[in-house]
Amino acid sequence: MGIKIPNVPMKLGGIKVNMSNNKQYNVAVVGATGAVGQKIIELLEEEPFEINDLKLLSSKRSAGKKLTVAGTELTIEEAVPESFENIDIAFFSAGGSVSEKLVPEAVKRGAIAVDNTSFYRMNPDVPLVVPEVNEAALEQHEGIVANPNCSTIQMVAALKPLHDAYGLDRVIVSTYQAVSGAGLAAQDELTNQTKQLLNNEEPEAHILPAGSDKKHYPIAFNALPQIDVFTDNGYTKEEMKMINETKKIMEKNDLPVAATCVRLPVFTSHAESVYIEVEKDGVSAEELKETLKNGKGIVLEDDITTQTYPTPLSAENKKEVYVGRVRKDPDTDKGFHLWVVSDNLLKGAAWNTVQIAISLVNKELV
Ligand SMILES: NC(=O)c1ccc[n+]([C@@H]2O[C@H](COP(=O)([O-])OP(=O)(O)OC[C@H]3O[C@@H](n4cnc5c(N)ncnc54)[C@H](OP(=O)(O)O)[C@@H]3O)[C@@H](O)[C@H]2O)c1
Repeated sequence: MGIKIPNVPMKLGGIKVNMSNNKQYNVAVVGATGAVGQKIIELLEEEPFEINDLKLLSSKRSAGKKLTVAGTELTIEEAVPESFENIDIAFFSAGGSVSEKLVPEAVKRGAIAVDNTSFYRMNPDVPLVVPEVNEAALEQHEGIVANPNCSTIQMVAALKPLHDAYGLDRVIVSTYQAVSGAGLAAQDELTNQTKQLLNNEEPEAHILPAGSDKKHYPIAFNALPQIDVFTDNGYTKEEMKMINETKKIMEKNDLPVAATCVRLPVFTSHAESVYIEVEKDGVSAEELKETLKNGKGIVLEDDITTQTYPTPLSAENKKEVYVGRVRKDPDTDKGFHLWVVSDNLLKGAAWNTVQIAISLVNKELV
């Protein structure tokens, strides 16, 4: 099985793809039936690099199902260690326990694993990469590259040009996150609960705020100040991911970061209200906007005279990170507020993952 994708140079998301080495890659997608896996497959259909063979992997449940990719019907297989024989690049988005077990099997067989789960992110030997921010970290890879948490990716993409220009002293973020961040089952739950409530029925809650936690609350017409389970310090795991991953990606362990993560009844795209304090004196909001406008992978949508700002709906199906509502804090000269929005399934997951693979190909690291 496999697909042949023709060698057509492409320009994706501002990155010119250099295919001068003319190599063809055997690629595996683990979690091919999931919310992220489906998006990875769509992006591979855009031919980001030359693919010789594409293998779609899932659990036993979906093995045998068919998916049509670039006009070719492929059969989904159960992911087992032998699935990774002759694979060059393996994309993992099937949960941490699957990555724990199968990423080493893929690496042992010579593949580079680009992992979307949180399992390897804070491992000091694993680069945690947002290509616009720390692409050079890929050069240190030993077979595994981790893709950061969705809410972290869009925030650090916006912070990077500001940090380079003015230095960052503090980051405080509140998120407004979409249900697709919790997978396809959470999207179904929002649909079903919305129908139930509109029919005056009791909403059934089984997944959110965290599938593994004791209590579940309806997400329809609601806002849940819990994403993932709580940790001992009173923050949730999602909040701690944002805090720890931001420091690692920005290579600034002493950067104060605090996060409050909230789930909203929105299907796609996470929004974030980000407060920053910069090191430099006398910076204006206009300067900040100009810097953001020139930032890699960032689109500034900020004009209050025309009510222009990004929203989850306007960012859906787009690869960039959108920033608006840039304001100086009324009381703190070095403080600024930003509104950062991006498609969590694309830049927050699948697109960042594919961008990592493009960088690995361009840098001849695979
Ligand atoms: N959604 C996001 O915005 C986002 C962002 C960044 C990272 N992530 C991470 O990416 C991972 C997947 O997220 P998702 O939202 O795509 O979840 P999802 O929609 O629930 O999909 C889960 C996928 O994993 C597969 N799977 C489950 N158990 C498996 C097993 N034992 N062996 C092989 N495959 C197995 C499922 O296959 P079956 O069809 O066989 O069940 C399905 O393809 C999670 O670790 C998540 O934290 C998600």
